[in-house]
Amino acid sequence: MATSEVPVADSTLLDRTNPEFLARAHAVYSDLRAQGPIVQVAFGRGIASGAHPEGSPERQPGQKWLFVSRYDEAVATLLDERLSSDFRTGMTPQQREQLEMAMPAEFRPVAHSLLMIDPPDHTRLRKLVQPNFTARAMEALRPRVQRLVDELLDTLERTAAERGETAPERHMELVESFAYPLPIRVISDMLGIPEEDRATVHGWAERLLLAESQTAMFDQELRTALNSFTSYLDGLFERKRREPAEDMISQMVHAQEDGDRLSHQELLSMVFILFFAGHVTTVNLLGNGVVALLQHPEQHARFLADPAGMAKGMVEETLRYWGPIDYISSPRIAKEELEVGGIHLPQGAKLSVGLASANRDPQRFANPDVYDITRPDAHRNIAFGKGIHVCIGAPLARLEAQLAFESLFRRFPKLRLAVPADELRWGTGVAMRGFKRIPLRF
Ligand code: HEM
Repeated sequence: MATSEVPVADSTLLDRTNPEFLARAHAVYSDLRAQGPIVQVAFGRGIASGAHPEGSPERQPGQKWLFVSRYDEAVATLLDERLSSDFRTGMTPQQREQLEMAMPAEFRPVAHSLLMIDPPDHTRLRKLVQPNFTARAMEALRPRVQRLVDELLDTLERTAAERGETAPERHMELVESFAYPLPIRVISDMLGIPEEDRATVHGWAERLLLAESQTAMFDQELRTALNSFTSYLDGLFERKRREPAEDMISQMVHAQEDGDRLSHQELLSMVFILFFAGHVTTVNLLGNGVVALLQHPEQHARFLADPAGMAKGMVEETLRYWGPIDYISSPRIAKEELEVGGIHLPQGAKLSVGLASANRDPQRFANPDVYDITRPDAHRNIAFGKGIHVCIGAPLARLEAQLAFESLFRRFPKLRLAVPADELRWGTGVAMRGFKRIPLRF
């Protein structure tokens, strides 16, 4: 097939800081798919600002990237090894060195995370942590996750009783009291962050996440919180070296001492990404699933009839319909000229992959805008990406969400929105799709 140039959708601004865009993003993605499998778009502000140093092109608003809009091409792009995930690709050694020098030290763990490096380093590092996320590891973790879910639901009941509320008129705000604490507790347990430190660590995490969504206070907030977290982790690594336990940080510290498998910088990067990658994402999956189900009465009734049987389907359909990440915000860069979906890409081309757009591609999913928890092929969604960078935490997020949906709706069958659905607001984190607050009655 002859290759063609990329269609330029110059009026298409993907601006996640704009609530109007957020509300109609799926219609925009549908337009983009109609224009072609790969189209040029502009991003409202630095698309991956959280991960890139000040002054880097990724921090500039209005920059133009290529956007992969359709399912087959999104999968092909994510599997293509001629595309790099390292934003330093194409730079001369001198430019790389300059960039490193210009980058504040506290940004380095973020800029060198698993997400932003290529093989062979990527392969070596991923192998170190992969065993913690196998199906077998998840089965072993299941009782612990169930216990955490139950504890959070107990607390919700108790605090409502203390306020004098009775079922089914009790109140909760789902994000703060359930969707947010659950994944943080699970990953803190897995990593081995001691109970007594968690309140402090969560304070920094919250500041980091807040900084992500508020450009004005971004840099100072981010740097201070990153600094505190890094110093804390250095101390924790020391403690785990002296007194290893059954946790991932102890394992990694051990691997570091075991030879040259993991540098100090790599250890920090790994803990950072494992701690943060599941924060907002899993929170959003839990929130999006509850809201989607409550907005679709027929699906809701089906789920209530068999929560254990339907939980897997609900998780997959939520990932497809309202996945927590709209598009990949750390660019794929063409290491050489190549062709994807009949489109010629020059060396150096930067691509963002539209995960949400691909998951609503009518060529792949019948009636893609319909939320259907019995959809037989929902598990073919690419909300967790694909290829060598596919989400390492996917089995964990799936386990958490299945147990959370099942327990929440079984225990509180009268669960419903406490405000009209059109009053719910999408949060504006970079590339994220999730509701800020979800007031419920139960
Ligand atoms: C519903 C929740 C989640 C979603 C939607 C999600 C989504 C993703 C996506 C799309 C990628 C690939 C990005 C790319 O190719 O550039 C990714 C990578 C990654 N995710 Fe997740 N994630 C979730 C939860 C988690 C959790 C709970 C953890 C950790 C415990 C985690 C850790 C990671 C890591 C370490 C990577 C980098 C993998 C690599 O580059 O090899 N994620 N995630």
